[in-house]
Amino acid sequence: MNNLLLEIENGIALLTINRPKSLNALNSETLSELNTCLRELEGNTDVKVVILTGSGEKAFVAGADISEMVNATPAEGRTMGLLAKEAFGRLENMPQVTIAAVNGYALGGGCEISMACDIRVASENAKFGQPECGLGILPGFGGTQRLARLVGKGRAKELIFTCDQISAEDAYRMGLANHVVPQAELIDYCKAMAGRIMKNGPFAVALAKQAINTGMDTDLDSGLKLEANLFGLSFSTEDKKEGMTAFLEKRKEKHFIGK
Ligand code: CAA
Repeated sequence: MNNLLLEIENGIALLTINRPKSLNALNSETLSELNTCLRELEGNTDVKVVILTGSGEKAFVAGADISEMVNATPAEGRTMGLLAKEAFGRLENMPQVTIAAVNGYALGGGCEISMACDIRVASENAKFGQPECGLGILPGFGGTQRLARLVGKGRAKELIFTCDQISAEDAYRMGLANHVVPQAELIDYCKAMAGRIMKNGPFAVALAKQAINTGMDTDLDSGLKLEANLFGLSFSTEDKKEGMTAFLEKRKEKHFIGK
């Protein structure tokens, strides 16, 4: 991989977009590598949480690569959008929990990739925004869809139409960032959160993620039916037996096996 770094330790995959000279801008090669890497990670049962971040202290991801897009044809633009759709869709729906550790600029495709993660933790210096309309294009890696779903239609339209950059605090206030922490503590903070997630039944967490993701894109009644079905499915697991028995035995230690 030319543009990604991957470290796997204690159930956590730390995936870093590593193009610091262009503030980790996403070119087609990086999108393809992301897709391949995420495909491998989603089948790796040793990995329970993926933390996604950017190289350096200035940027998470400063967007799609403008130097690649400047001479791209409409067909090439569409291909790039579809490549991102596939990679970001994988991130959004993989069985593991994904946390974006937003360590600086998250603009355009950077804001968009963070929104494909389950949870966003921002460092105090982070800045979010969708500057595409200022480049004469519109957000093309999910911004018009995921931003509106996360913060509501009115706020999404304001951010996309004005191209305003907002601070980590403002992102927190509108629900785009779950937490804001000092930059030096960002990765440890995300790892600690991953640790709390990993104490729980991994299969149950994956089913809950599926219920939320699918349910948010359907009507309430269908979402509730899906939840009842997945709730029932979770009763078939060893983890359900273990989790409930541990409670009844007043035992703190639980031994989940993900089945
Ligand atoms: N694509 C390609 N290169 C980029 C880039 C991007 N999105 N963002 C930054 N870079 C490059 C710069 O060209 C510069 O390269 P050189 O050193 O070779 O000149 C280097 O990264 C450092 O950037 P700056 O000198 O501009 O750094 P700065 O501190 O002055 O500004 C910034 C930082 C505000 C993030 C500024 O770089 C910027 O505005 N970047 C572009 C942000 C943007 O418009 N993103 C949206 C892209 S379109 C998109 O994402 C479409 C979509 O929906 C998928």
